[in-house]
Amino acid sequence: MFRVADLGLSEAGVREIEWAEKHMPVLMRIRSEFSKEKPLSGVRVAAVLHVTKATAVLVRTLVGGGAEVWLAGSNPLSTQDHVAAALATEGIHVFAWRGQTSSEYYECISRVVSSEPDIVIDDGADLHAYLHSERKDLGSKVWGGTEETTTGVIRLKSLEKSGKLLYPVIAVNDSLTKYMFDNRYGTGQSAIDGILRATNTLIAGKIFVVAGYGWVGKGIAMRARGMGARVVVTEVDPVRALEAVMDGFEVMPMSKASLVGDIFVTATGNKRVIREEHFKVMKDGAILANAGHFNVEVSVEDLEKISVSKRVVRPNLEEYLLPDGRKLYLIGEGRLVNLVAAEGHPSEVMDMSFANQALAVKYIVNNKEKLEKRVYVLPREIDERIAEIKLASMNIEIDRLTEEQVKYLTSWEYGT
Ligand code: NAD
Ligand code: ADE
Repeated sequence: MFRVADLGLSEAGVREIEWAEKHMPVLMRIRSEFSKEKPLSGVRVAAVLHVTKATAVLVRTLVGGGAEVWLAGSNPLSTQDHVAAALATEGIHVFAWRGQTSSEYYECISRVVSSEPDIVIDDGADLHAYLHSERKDLGSKVWGGTEETTTGVIRLKSLEKSGKLLYPVIAVNDSLTKYMFDNRYGTGQSAIDGILRATNTLIAGKIFVVAGYGWVGKGIAMRARGMGARVVVTEVDPVRALEAVMDGFEVMPMSKASLVGDIFVTATGNKRVIREEHFKVMKDGAILANAGHFNVEVSVEDLEKISVSKRVVRPNLEEYLLPDGRKLYLIGEGRLVNLVAAEGHPSEVMDMSFANQALAVKYIVNNKEKLEKRVYVLPREIDERIAEIKLASMNIEIDRLTEEQVKYLTSWEYGT
């Protein structure tokens, strides 16, 4: 069973997936192990992920391990239709297409949930939330789940705190080989990629405002600076604000940044970070984008309310005309700029994120009797193994501790 935009796109999708496979050595190593050991034999997996070429490599890996996979998109605008078509022709139960309405989006989630999954993989926790609200009957039968992103982990920790979590969850986002690379270098590059594809604007010399200096914000600020922007950071956490200052960025509140910024990118996981009071003082021509998980960071509602008209000026770029004649430009309806206006993170980065996903699924299968209804992080050894395989694939060797060094590092006797 499947529903995709156009099955005729599948050949192009297969070529894209093969291109991604060439750039995902860690996941391909796991696939070859899975193919021999079949650790997921007979396991039904429901996944709600951005349907990209990298996701297809994960899906093929799970199938290689013996799983039956049901897949829906994790954002109404992020599905790559040719990839979805390719997966459908390979027998995956995929329900995803670009440009879904909100009700179609949830209909697709309900289709993958109807498979009665043993394990669920999510990006943003809409699938987990659905299993904890609409389909608790099926949620209570799930062995365990995984969560890909910071916002999803926050939602799941809130469920855990309320005592209502129905199954154990592995916070894949919180693996070192995930957030240090995906959130920072992945979003750093792909958010800039999305802004450029949507606007073809010059970054050099612009005042580029990044809201939030967490892992995603750091990556975007770093890459914008690399392209010659004058980067301003806004924060609410004094420690992270101080870090941004000492990394050499200007730090100020959004009330001041909105007066000077040319390009704004939100990366906070929070709502209404840029809103009416900010739009009202922005420069004519300011560009607005969001890299956080949900489309709540730039208040599109406020923008719609204060504008006299809007029009599409380029693919993924809308112009809002304000009563005083100023024009503001919103990329991708305020949804994840890197997935809507570009292709998401490069496969090399998703290699590590999805290696964590594949190993998390195997971990749940192997430990399902022991795991409690809690949010877990994968053991450090798994992180280290992923980093080791990645380094080896890049032909990079590192030193090993000598016996003498191990002893020194584990003793208290040696001092001055
Ligand atoms: P994080 O917790 O490391 O950082 C978020 C930062 O935003 C924090 O420092 C916090 O203090 C700050 N913040 C919160 N409210 C703020 C406000 N009103 N103004 C300014 N700063 C504020 O989280 P992260 O890992 O950087 O993730 C950020 C968001 O990006 C999440 O929604 C996450 O799910 C999403 N994400 C997106 C992608 C992508 O592909 N686009 C990839 C990874 C994560
Ligand atoms: N999240 C960010 N980039 C992604 C990609 N390329 N594939 C799947 N999920 C993503």
